[in-house]
Amino acid sequence: MSLEKFGIYEGINEIIATTRTGESINSAPLGIRYFNKKAYVMAYSDTHTFANLKESGVLVANVIHDPVIFAISSFDDLAREYYVDGKYPILKDALSYVVFSTSISGKRVDLSFIEGKVLRKEVRAINRGLNAIIEACIYGTRYLAFGSDELKNRVVYYLSIAEKCGSNQEKKAIELIKMYLDI
Ligand SMILES: Cc1cc2nc3c(=O)[nH]c(=O)nc-3n(C[C@H](O)[C@H](O)[C@H](O)COP(=O)(O)O)c2cc1C
Repeated sequence: MSLEKFGIYEGINEIIATTRTGESINSAPLGIRYFNKKAYVMAYSDTHTFANLKESGVLVANVIHDPVIFAISSFDDLAREYYVDGKYPILKDALSYVVFSTSISGKRVDLSFIEGKVLRKEVRAINRGLNAIIEACIYGTRYLAFGSDELKNRVVYYLSIAEKCGSNQEKKAIELIKMYLDI
């Protein structure tokens, strides 16, 4: 499986995973692990994403750079207007998407390529504000699950970097993260 042309490279790729059961669509950031041309996810079993995967066996990986979409998907679900109408739950603002069939064994979800497309190409320098929003979302989801001051302090630290280095979109994401975490 060769995923590089869709923007998924060796290592852990932070994407927005969208999954469906019946009419309902779930969105959540997930890390796709891509090593030796094999792609898989390590998934927490107590999530809607995991339940949907058990039922549907299909995961769409949306490659996207929007911090607001990461913030909402970390703590909530995206509204319908964020999606393209169609067979699979693809985000309108995705740079690319890959549809995978999934095979679960324990917490490991192996991914097999079904189809993918590059929707737009974006040339962008590394921005610490965007990276910091991703870190804040990671520690924020852990803070919600385990609730320790150390995790909360990490969120606050990364939000301060996002504030300093980010654009208006990162500033919107900061407000959303603070609202969802009540910090
Ligand atoms: C950047 C990022 C990467 C994440 N990667 C994973 C992952 O690889 N596996 C996982 O189970 N959860 C991961 N999470 C946490 C889930 O996104 C989080 O538990 C989410 O709330 C699950 O939502 P759901 O219940 O709607 O599926 C990640 C969160 C963030 C912010």
